[in-house]
Amino acid sequence: MRWRSFPLPLLLFSFLTLLVGRAAVSGFRICSYNVQKFNTMKAKNYRLIHTLTRIVSRCDICLLQDVFDPKGEAIKILLSSLNRGTDRYEHYSYRSVASEALGKSKEDMQQYVFIYRMQTVNVTDKYQYKGNEYFDRDPFVVQFQSKNTPIEKFILVPLHTNATLAVKEIDRLYDVFEDVSKKWNNTNVMFLGDFHASCAYLTRQDKKNIRLFTDSNFSWLIGDRVDTTVTDKTSCAYDRIVVYGQPFLKAIRPFSARVYNFAKEFKLSKTRVLEVSDHFPVEVRLKSSALLHQATPLLILFSISAVIQSMFSAL
Ligand SMILES: *[C@@H]1O[C@H](CO)[C@@H](O)[C@H](O)[C@H]1NC(C)=O
Ligand SMILES: *[C@@H]1O[C@H](CO)[C@@H](O)[C@H](O)[C@H]1NC(C)=O
Ligand SMILES: *[C@@H]1O[C@H](CO)[C@@H](O)[C@H](O)[C@H]1NC(C)=O
Ligand SMILES: *[C@@H]1O[C@H](CO)[C@@H](O)[C@H](O)[C@H]1NC(C)=O
Repeated sequence: MRWRSFPLPLLLFSFLTLLVGRAAVSGFRICSYNVQKFNTMKAKNYRLIHTLTRIVSRCDICLLQDVFDPKGEAIKILLSSLNRGTDRYEHYSYRSVASEALGKSKEDMQQYVFIYRMQTVNVTDKYQYKGNEYFDRDPFVVQFQSKNTPIEKFILVPLHTNATLAVKEIDRLYDVFEDVSKKWNNTNVMFLGDFHASCAYLTRQDKKNIRLFTDSNFSWLIGDRVDTTVTDKTSCAYDRIVVYGQPFLKAIRPFSARVYNFAKEFKLSKTRVLEVSDHFPVEVRLKSSALLHQATPLLILFSISAVIQSMFSAL
């Protein structure tokens, strides 16, 4: 076979179709990251913001918790880094939606911040849950809409618990679920964040007191044995992702929920990683919408047949 006679345009075309197929296959990524006291001082650390930009830019939606940014300066720095007009971040532009500073003590007021891609997802509603002292930091609930996912409209409920009250606060997410699913007539609800749902704060016995465990309609996607902490001294599944109902579960790409160990991915030292946070991010991927999904196998089949055909004609 003479490879030189292999038609170049056809080869390029096949390659491109495979790439498009791959993009559709990679799905819609939702991430959650406790960025440990993220403030303007941290945002002005160039190395740190570079690492954080690489992490957040992988996600269609990324929930950040433990953000101390009452004037919005730190998030502004992160957004301008994400939106810098380079090819590195795949031409997406990013926006944020943030809660007020929440907390019981003046020294520890934290915000929930969602950063999302304008090209793949819209915010349709948001609302600050008021739990009458239920939570140290009441969930800031946001409804998103995306044509790129099979469920289209879904609700994200963030929670960063007070560790010593973790069991009670996680249980009360059930009340948030009832409230918000009625309010927006939508049971496609995902709970995510640093729940402290592990080690000393949540034991096996505690589970019977948590409705998100006892009601089997809730699926815990990040398991009990996962380690979401950075140091080797601890192995705890603090950060979790939970979804309600079969429709949401079916929209999840199987086995895609995981810790994103960017120390390994970016080959960073523990020191550099701890500079950002003592947690790793967690993430899950949704399947692509039905249309993209149906198109993908066809595209791949088409490109394979094109290659085979051209090989025969080259003989
Ligand atoms: C966001 O909403 C606008 C206006 O309704 C719509 O045209 C656009 O397609 C939506 N984007 C996505 C990614 O769903
Ligand atoms: C967590 O809750 C306990 C008990 O209510 C309280 O004493 C403590 O200050 C809270 N911790 C934080 C970090 O808010
Ligand atoms: C709520 O949603 C369901 C299913 O999505 C729909 O059949 C029903 O009409 C909706 N109810 C209201 C009050 O909008
Ligand atoms: C799951 O949800 C359905 C519909 O709301 C409800 O009837 C059922 O009791 C729930 N399952 C459990 C185990 O609670």
